[in-house]
Amino acid sequence: MLKSHRCGELRPEHAGERVLLAGWVHRRRDHGGLVFLDLRDESGLVQVVCHPTDAPGPHAVASTVRSEWVLAVEGEVARRREGTVNEALPTGAVEVAALEVRVLSEAATPPIPVNQETAADEATRLRYRYLDLRRGRMAANLRLRHRVVQGIRRYLDERGFVEVETPMLSAATPEGARDYLVPSRIHPGRFYALPQSPQQWKQLLVVAGFERYYQIARCFRDEDLRADRQPEFTQLDIEMAFVEQRDVLELVEGLYTELSGELAPERSLPRPFPRIPYAEAMERFGTDKPDLRYGMEIADLSEPATAGELGIFRQAVADGGRVRGIAVPGGAGTPRRELDRLTGLAREAGAGGLVPVAYAGSGPLEGLAAEEVRSPVARFFDEATLAGMGRLAGARRGDLLLAVAAPDDVSSRALDVLRRELAATRGLADEQRLAYCFVTDFPLVEWDARAQRWQASHHLFTAPAEEDLGLLESDPGAVRSLAYDLVCNGQELASGSIRTHRPEVLLAVMGVLGIDEAQARERFGHMLEAFGYGAPPHGGIAPGLDRTVALFAGERDIREVIAFPKTKTASDPLTGAPSAVDPAQLAEVHVELRE
Ligand code: AMO
Repeated sequence: MLKSHRCGELRPEHAGERVLLAGWVHRRRDHGGLVFLDLRDESGLVQVVCHPTDAPGPHAVASTVRSEWVLAVEGEVARRREGTVNEALPTGAVEVAALEVRVLSEAATPPIPVNQETAADEATRLRYRYLDLRRGRMAANLRLRHRVVQGIRRYLDERGFVEVETPMLSAATPEGARDYLVPSRIHPGRFYALPQSPQQWKQLLVVAGFERYYQIARCFRDEDLRADRQPEFTQLDIEMAFVEQRDVLELVEGLYTELSGELAPERSLPRPFPRIPYAEAMERFGTDKPDLRYGMEIADLSEPATAGELGIFRQAVADGGRVRGIAVPGGAGTPRRELDRLTGLAREAGAGGLVPVAYAGSGPLEGLAAEEVRSPVARFFDEATLAGMGRLAGARRGDLLLAVAAPDDVSSRALDVLRRELAATRGLADEQRLAYCFVTDFPLVEWDARAQRWQASHHLFTAPAEEDLGLLESDPGAVRSLAYDLVCNGQELASGSIRTHRPEVLLAVMGVLGIDEAQARERFGHMLEAFGYGAPPHGGIAPGLDRTVALFAGERDIREVIAFPKTKTASDPLTGAPSAVDPAQLAEVHVELRE
């Protein structure tokens, strides 16, 4: 080893010891003849002192070094003098008096400062990712990711799970995003697809008798990117035989409880995780990813709202919609400009408008007087009705009621946007909480208006609820499935389902999705065939690893927890991918480019 100790581990008990250190120059300071170097390695940093007369050789070398040069330093550990101790640094009570300084490698001026957490633009950070990763925050995030993965492996290994790798070169999966394709050289005109998830492989593994499978699996999806989406991401992929939904949820609840306790012990973790059926989540929160850290639950105001003469409310209900709303605590004084902004957000979400009702004063809404209500629609209602609407949403005096009159899907979308926005701008979500929940009983299929056909809400291997099987042909939209999500703080962390293992049910579901038996045999014949050789009842789930680590790291963008992520346009500024390739290479895989 080129080092006897790690920079960050030196303490007063090492005083008097001769040590050999190696690392990067974090900072150099020249002070009245003395040169101080902060030498950094992966364990932390320590101060090295080079004295001009006691150690003229090291002093001469140290005078020439610059940030990020790589050095080997031999020296003696000494306690720092009283008054020069740096409490902020774990090694702050000692320093190393240099006896020899050797330059192992010089460094150009880094394009992003390594010794400061200052913001740098994304393109530069990704172009020089190896420098970005030297910075404290990013280095800590990758170490945290390592600990999450170790925690997962330990937890699952203790419970008898077996880690199995599955192919990257596969056939297209029915996950619903676009595939990344890989042309075949040996089979002209044919392509592999990179897996969107190992869904079919893991089901085949349980058919093969692996009753508890997992894999830290890389997945590829060519879809629009957002803060929580990368084209290439990682799942903790899990599949289990002979289980019911409850078993899978309990396994995952245990895993996240253990990880949270170990990696974020200071954050409160309400348990058990609530199980919320999809329909209830949509009704109360307008979304299947509810953030349970704050209230403002959605209320049905249709009854009082149609008691007055207001046309937009009455019409919406007559058209089969409802009037729904939320109460913003302490929002009565919301200025006009802010109300306009919120209305804009509701409109963007598809609502025709947003009706505000502000209740002045404090205390319950009993005995509300006309002059205590401020609303553009106040004159259409008597005070008792206005108070009744507020009460349904849990409003008190001092609060602001926001109502949307629309079909349910529209009011859900609009009120979900408003809840999130209001919680963010008013700081209602306690950042120290980890509010997990499971959302269950998703609909099996959703109507795709553009394609004019039913789409699987999760994927086509998801089992319909036994009691809804009779509706499969007559009313597919009403069939619930055995699909579930793990949600935390308003974000989907994991998705899974109990699968259909009976070929005839799988064929019936495919029928609803517009896949006839001939197509089913062509595309999924291998699965139908496998299920014909003794398939155990099975189910699984796949937590997103990047999202999980980001949650524990307190990062909003999953790129902050991925070593080498892609930009928002799916490119990699470091290697230049995707890049043009040599025409000869294209010819070899039988691909010809169109101008
Ligand atoms: P699903 O498609 O819901 O389910 O994905 C499961 C989880 O993977 C994460 N995830 C992503 N993370 C980052 N970037 C992306 N582009 C991205 N897409 C998905 C999310 C999500 O909850 N085979 C099924 C699972 C199963 O049924 O067992 C599947 O892939 O955290």
